Amino acid sequence: QIYARITGTGSALPERVVTNADLEKIVETSDEWIRTRTGIQRRHIAAEGQTTGDLATEAAQRALEAAGVKASELDLIVLGTTTPDIIFPSTACLVQHRLGANGCAAFDVNAACSGFVYALGIADKFIRSGQSKKVLVIGAETLTRMIDWNERETCVLFGDGAGAVVLEASEEPGIFATLLHADGGFKHLLYNPVGVSAGFTDEPNHGVRINMSGREVFKVAVKTLDSLVDETLQAAGMEASQIDWLIPHQANLRIIEATAKRLEMPMERVIVTVQEHANTSSGSVPLALDYAVRSGKVQRGQNLLLEAFGGGFTWASALLRY
Ligand code: ACO
Repeated sequence: QIYARITGTGSALPERVVTNADLEKIVETSDEWIRTRTGIQRRHIAAEGQTTGDLATEAAQRALEAAGVKASELDLIVLGTTTPDIIFPSTACLVQHRLGANGCAAFDVNAACSGFVYALGIADKFIRSGQSKKVLVIGAETLTRMIDWNERETCVLFGDGAGAVVLEASEEPGIFATLLHADGGFKHLLYNPVGVSAGFTDEPNHGVRINMSGREVFKVAVKTLDSLVDETLQAAGMEASQIDWLIPHQANLRIIEATAKRLEMPMERVIVTVQEHANTSSGSVPLALDYAVRSGKVQRGQNLLLEAFGGGFTWASALLRY
């Protein structure tokens, strides 16, 4: 049996840090409100001209270095993003060229905040089928480009960042199971209305902005993630007690705590970076994973449960041995 195994991780964050206190100066909010409702304390925000592709390239270079893999050896690049540099070519193609990995398949996956876990699930299938041997999987976003800084309901929640992993074919496990789900019926609760067929009004930023019904998103997210983690354990044939670390999508500390409670996992076994990064959408899970690896928390041979939930709605998970 062939498994897809993570052989290197990397991440990248913009230099500029914006604290909750900084946001108090631009919208009517408070550090106390943001901390108690979300767990967020600060976020990184891309510099003028700094793109999703820039962050993705940096994160990818670090993951390749950690894996000891040359860009020219890659046979697939899958990049999860909902904030591509341009509509086409895909950001995966732009990153491929910058890495010097030309010739391999490269494409983007748009599954909002579930983008990285979707990309990981797709890459896993390519490796299991024997089609690919060395794959670069990236989650990268500059979500703050979609933010209306006058709207306190959303502007406090998001940040920019990217993470990446190198997956290689191996006889050792490896990814045990990945689950990918979507329900487009929830579009109205979380969306950005601008595309080639709609939007581009006289509104600020051409109408590009995140529309979110926060409380409803919260409720569906908690319920859906509860069933997702159950389903993932079942697909991998494992018990919750066999999971060493939960690495969840970092949108809201209360959602993360609810999932941990469902798994009866103490918070000491949950990777939490939301206080530092806010919600970086597709960037959040691989950023948390890279932090967990580089800080020495996650060790080789441990079982990791990755999960995400985002606009669509989409939700996805991966259970793997690191
Ligand atoms: N500062 C101060 N007050 C605020 C702020 C703010 N930044 N934002 C909203 N408020 C006010 C509102 O005006 C409202 O006031 P009102 O009650 O007088 O009308 C009140 O605070 C809202 O409070 P609650 O509804 O109790 O807030 P809640 O506890 O639901 O927290 C939050 C809101 C943080 C948005 C939460 O619902 C949440 O995290 N939802 C999930 C969002 C999410 O996970 N998104 C992930 C997907 S993102 C993607 O896919 C791109």
